[in-house]
Amino acid sequence: MSSVRNGKEMFVVQGFGGKRKLSGRLAVSGAKNAALKAMAATLLFSDTVKLNNVPDIEDVKRMAELLSDLGGDVKKVGAHSYTINTKGISKTDLDHTLSKRMRSSIILTGPILARFGKVSFPHPGGCVLGSRPIDLFLSGFKEMGGRSVLRKGRYRVSARGKKLKGIEFFFRKVSVTGTETLMMSAVLAEGKTTLKNAALEPEIEHLAEFLNSCGAKIKGAGTSTIEITGGGMLRARKKVYTTLPDRIEAGSFLILGAIAARRLEITKCKPEHLEILTTLLKESGVPISIKKGSIVVRTPRVRPSAFDVRTHEYPGFSTDLQAPMVVYLTQAKGECSVFETIFEGRLNYTEDLVHMGAHITMANPHNIAVKGPSKLEGRTLEGPDLRAGLAFVIAGIVAEGQSIIDNVYHIDRGYERIEERLRSIGVNIKRVSR
Ligand code: UD1
Repeated sequence: MSSVRNGKEMFVVQGFGGKRKLSGRLAVSGAKNAALKAMAATLLFSDTVKLNNVPDIEDVKRMAELLSDLGGDVKKVGAHSYTINTKGISKTDLDHTLSKRMRSSIILTGPILARFGKVSFPHPGGCVLGSRPIDLFLSGFKEMGGRSVLRKGRYRVSARGKKLKGIEFFFRKVSVTGTETLMMSAVLAEGKTTLKNAALEPEIEHLAEFLNSCGAKIKGAGTSTIEITGGGMLRARKKVYTTLPDRIEAGSFLILGAIAARRLEITKCKPEHLEILTTLLKESGVPISIKKGSIVVRTPRVRPSAFDVRTHEYPGFSTDLQAPMVVYLTQAKGECSVFETIFEGRLNYTEDLVHMGAHITMANPHNIAVKGPSKLEGRTLEGPDLRAGLAFVIAGIVAEGQSIIDNVYHIDRGYERIEERLRSIGVNIKRVSR
């Protein structure tokens, strides 16, 4: 069962009052949003899969616990390595408490259904980002022959003849985990599946490449049309999955560097996954040099100017970078608007930035106006989700005085030992137990 220990911890940050004091190097961890999917994909394998560069974060621990609870043999074999063998799994019911802790538990449902012909699960939990429906998953399963009923708070889906069948499916809304879940389901389905209006996130292509190297037949991942020819269980035959760098973590470090560093090098990243961010920051006046696998950000000559942001599916501006970017915009010169198009509750945290002194007005739940630059004052803050949690840490670094960021569990869900890493570049941050 869950071994959560950090529900009562907080971060105490001593801000630098807008002065640029940080310098050094920050290495980017493996991507949460890639590692979790690869762990779920081990359900498609008849042998052991080794996963490397897995971030040591709470969501990964919950996923390991979910797989173990099903009967999988999950071993942490190094600081960032796991071996997972799902041969012994016969249980098809996802644990209630663990599923409620993490939205990504939903990605296990497709592979379980495809392999065993049935699955049951509660509505998944996770970050509070407004209503997070699962209708796309259920309609995909239904078309593949999986009938679902909702009984006593659990969805029970079962496939006719215990086997899913290949389909043509058009996503009426682009969904990252929806695309990944149906793609994985189709690997074990009968016949060919075509997914249209699929999400384009690099983590999807990366997963498909690994599955293909182990026997899957997936074409077009990374484009909006993905074709999967179903077949039998996959075999890793000692091939190792290596998690790609976390572009959201890299982007957040870059934003931190742009407002608070003299010189910061972000290493072990893929700059090609961050083009929208580096383009916007450069145009705003931030000196950025891009190398192979690293990005260097330096002090701007004059205060950078503000720009409008509209979140979008990849390769557009990621909703996961919206909160750190709003903190950046409070420090830039001029007025701008931020339009959150993906999640309806994802601007609520800005109320806390206003309490810190930011000039932000909310036109509606999807749209704010930011006027900068503004002086921020340290406060007690509670991050509603993991991305806003890290944005609050960044706001605390920029502010004058002390900030307390509560609910550290949210930040630990997605970022590994963040306080130690930030301390290494000069941030004054402590983890304190209540
Ligand atoms: C993934 C990422 C998350 C990121 C988000 C958008 C993971 C584990 N998480 O989340 O970090 O913020 O993509 O880039 O990879 N929707 C429906 N019905 C559904 C499913 C989704 O209407 O059945 C809607 C959502 O409410 C949202 C939009 O589709 O408005 C996109 O959500 P989606 O791409 O599915 O987000 P996640 O995959 O959950």
